[in-house]
Amino acid sequence: MHYHKKPDWLIKESRSTDEKHFINRRKILAGMGIATGLAALGGPAFSLPSQSPFSPRPGLNGNYANAGRAVTAESINSTYNNFYEFGSSKNIHQEAQALQSDPWTVTIDGMVDTPFQISVDDLISRIGVEERIYRHRCVEAWSMVVPWVGFPLAKLVEMAKPLSRAKYVQFQTFNNPEVASEQRASWYPWPYTEGLTMAEATNELSLMVVGAYGKVLHKQFGAPMRLHTPWKYGFKSIKSIDRITFTDRQPVGFWEGLQKKEYGFWANVNPAVDHRRWTQATERPLSGGDRIPTQLYNGYGDQVAGMYSGMADEIGDAFWR
Ligand code: MTE
Repeated sequence: MHYHKKPDWLIKESRSTDEKHFINRRKILAGMGIATGLAALGGPAFSLPSQSPFSPRPGLNGNYANAGRAVTAESINSTYNNFYEFGSSKNIHQEAQALQSDPWTVTIDGMVDTPFQISVDDLISRIGVEERIYRHRCVEAWSMVVPWVGFPLAKLVEMAKPLSRAKYVQFQTFNNPEVASEQRASWYPWPYTEGLTMAEATNELSLMVVGAYGKVLHKQFGAPMRLHTPWKYGFKSIKSIDRITFTDRQPVGFWEGLQKKEYGFWANVNPAVDHRRWTQATERPLSGGDRIPTQLYNGYGDQVAGMYSGMADEIGDAFWR
């Protein structure tokens, strides 16, 4: 995102799966009853979008079987990523392969019944996974459509047994400057953090993502587990999470800490509120073609608008006006 001299989301436009990890975690995913679906997904990414609300693929959530647009080719969005830990260009997919994402332990702490640590593999085994095709809208005004594999964040919240005092959930990415070169840059407030209200975290759309395109998550997508909140600008969808903390204080996100007027807490997609330096009325699909109109809440208003109805402005997102 635009900050200081180095990071520059707007101007710079700039794959690979570790087969061993793919096979290991795939075994677990296979145990979740979507093995056939995953096998079927081995074909070309372009064959994924289903025009029918019913999918033949086991594991595909019928409510999210069709994003209304073609799925973006895996080859495109696995080579165009925002993962600042590995650099400020979009071309970080090779450097990101240095991340050791298996095994991976997540700490659940803060205002919970009993803090604990759990591996991503255990989370997958205990909760199970499903596939959902979601639209993703970056605050930089590009967009993609991805077939994620994951589980509702609400299930993890339930497992964590938060205390009634907990009002927010804070997420944190790993911090390892030896592996992630940009984490040696002192102008950033590492580690990357993000946060949601409890209502947002338990909204049915909030997904903990452990796979995409029927495969274990590519490292550049935020392996082994990242968040996706499709009604919010993409910077809320934090990657490679290693800590989830329940708190009564509104968390300050990584970009919010750098530039609150441009990257605030709510960050709900809203075509009527421009970024201070560019329009949010339209977006550029990574798959190519003309720019398309951006939709309020990225088109997910039915599921999320109710959470913001009592707020001061129409969507509770006036931070950059
Ligand atoms: N999470 C971490 N840890 N570091 C990041 O730089 N970038 C965010 C989000 N999550 C980011 C992150 C931004 S700005 C976007 S748009 C999405 O990841 C991009 O996800 P993608 O690379 O899978 O498209």
